[in-house]
Amino acid sequence: MLKGLLFDLDGVLADTAQYHLLAWRELAERLNIDLPAAADADLRGRSRLDSLNLLLQYGHELEQFSAAEKASLMAEKNRHYQALVKRLTPQALLPGIADLLAAAQADGVMMAVASSSQNAPLILDQLGIADYFAGVADPTKVHQGKPAPDIYQAAQALLGLDADEVIGFEDAPAGVAAIKAAGQFAVGIGDDWVLRAADIIVPTTAELNYGQLKQAFNAD
Ligand code: BG6
Ligand code: MG
Repeated sequence: MLKGLLFDLDGVLADTAQYHLLAWRELAERLNIDLPAAADADLRGRSRLDSLNLLLQYGHELEQFSAAEKASLMAEKNRHYQALVKRLTPQALLPGIADLLAAAQADGVMMAVASSSQNAPLILDQLGIADYFAGVADPTKVHQGKPAPDIYQAAQALLGLDADEVIGFEDAPAGVAAIKAAGQFAVGIGDDWVLRAADIIVPTTAELNYGQLKQAFNAD
């Protein structure tokens, strides 16, 4: 029986994934690292450090930076990201999300956030949706980032539910992999091929319908 919804934030609840990518691309440019178009899907969902390591790998520069230098590069990216999201309002909620959250709440289903982003609490406040969630899993407290299952397991535990009682929502291949590794039902939002490991895939959040999702979950 469906009892909980676990949401990724960037690219699922809000239109913020583009700002992360923009800030990473700006850093790559400053470091003279050429990021291929495929890097966007790869970077999505990864923790701050995993993203930086991936970016440096693309430039074959992974070994060239000390931990202190990496910390300063991550702080630089985060300053840029925070400047980009400073004026974020509830308008940045993706289409269909407000209805989905309201329908799930009305049906008595609990919700939690399973984002890799340390900025998640701030963004949820800016979006005006923080009160919908019984918990926000802390990405700094999990052992491994997505695609490992840890953050989805932590969000599920915050709700006190079992893996077969929840649906996870993701826009990133690493995130879908994390949901499936946690033994949960995965809804992918985006490209069919990129997110093929998900149980259901919709092209955009506008196609998310609570009633249909519940039906598909129960039929699984
Ligand atoms: C994820 C984003 O939600 O959070 C990634 O998809 C981002 O792009 C990651 O790198 C970490 O975010 P933050 O805010 O902790 O740097
Ligand atoms: Mg995402």
